[in-house]
Amino acid sequence: MEAISIGLLGLGTVGSGVVKIIERNQDKLMHQIGCPVKVSKILVRELDKEREVEINPELLTANPDDILKNDNIDVVIEVMGGLEKTKEYLQEAINHHKHIVTANKDLMAVYGPELLQSASENQCDLFYEASVAGGIPILRGLVDGLASDRITKMMGIVNGTTNFILTKMSKEGSAYEEVLKEAQALGYAESDPTADVEGLDAARKMAILSTLGFSMNIDLDDVKVNGITEITEEDLQYAKQLGYSMKLIGIAHREGEKVEVSVQPTMLAETHPLAGVQDEYNAVYVYGEAVGETMFYGPGAGSLPTATAVVSDLVAVMKNMRLGVNGRSAAVPQFEKKLKDDNE
Ligand code: NDP
Ligand code: HSE
Repeated sequence: MEAISIGLLGLGTVGSGVVKIIERNQDKLMHQIGCPVKVSKILVRELDKEREVEINPELLTANPDDILKNDNIDVVIEVMGGLEKTKEYLQEAINHHKHIVTANKDLMAVYGPELLQSASENQCDLFYEASVAGGIPILRGLVDGLASDRITKMMGIVNGTTNFILTKMSKEGSAYEEVLKEAQALGYAESDPTADVEGLDAARKMAILSTLGFSMNIDLDDVKVNGITEITEEDLQYAKQLGYSMKLIGIAHREGEKVEVSVQPTMLAETHPLAGVQDEYNAVYVYGEAVGETMFYGPGAGSLPTATAVVSDLVAVMKNMRLGVNGRSAAVPQFEKKLKDDNE
């Protein structure tokens, strides 16, 4: 049976994990989708750079058209990051009827609705599970698992880098700059970690979560954001003495059709379950009117956990290909949003 051909945009932390999982789990993938999966081309900036995975140099290219306009490629996996240029690339890929899997929350928080619409019009899938909370299957949890319920609130830790920094500063008394460097070396941080530490990465994820959870378009600009850059080691030690933990918490709350979304450092009693979420781990409480309280927990960043979500999206695309239903599953927001402050 003919192999499904993948074009990979990016071969950094997540891209290397994707290549590893596709290689290691070929048997399982074959069993799930009935044909082999092969990575045919990989877009990078530097062709000669040393890589985390062993790769045939002939697969590497610096020319995006080798993937976007390549008739032999079925699915484009975008793990390069970035916004405007990346949007252009994915639109080009959709124009060439390629299915898309992306881990890019910047892109999905800003251009998600537009790209999903375009993908759907072109009978293409566009999946983005890895964009929120790394290896935790929270988007499917919201869209499929809780499809029948009305979600009223989501609250949690959705940035691994800041949770790693706060954990190490609080537990080990490490200096902020030193732990940030460690988070970068471990591949948790964004290429420019400003988005992590200033709370913007968490805000993007909360915008995506609330758009899906509440079925309305939540603009990134509507999310109130404060990061962790002002927090000192003394603040954390003081909180600890009082029996509290400082966490960067995202909250999305809905009352009727009014919504409030924010990200801010928050003191939690050490007995609170979110206070026990350590290092790069993420956790999100989701409250539904019928189900009550559910909690999603797991690794929120890093190569293999994130790549698991990416490759699982790939499996979903391929199952849809087999059924001939690609492009039909885009979750389109159904309600008009009213920000909580609008009428107050
Ligand atoms: P890296 O910086 O490790 O890797 C980026 C890769 O993309 C590199 O291989 C780079 O090439 C390539 N690249 C970047 N820009 C271009 C360009 N303009 N043209 C060609 N190639 C380019 O990033 P990550 O793997 O950490 O992250 C990738 C995406 O996944 C981001 O959107 C990130 O937000 C998201 N994400 C990351 C997670 C993580 O834990 N790291 C978790 C969840 C999502 P070269 O190697 O030659 O420089
Ligand atoms: N920089 C992000 C984080 C990667 O630390 O959570 C996962 O989205």
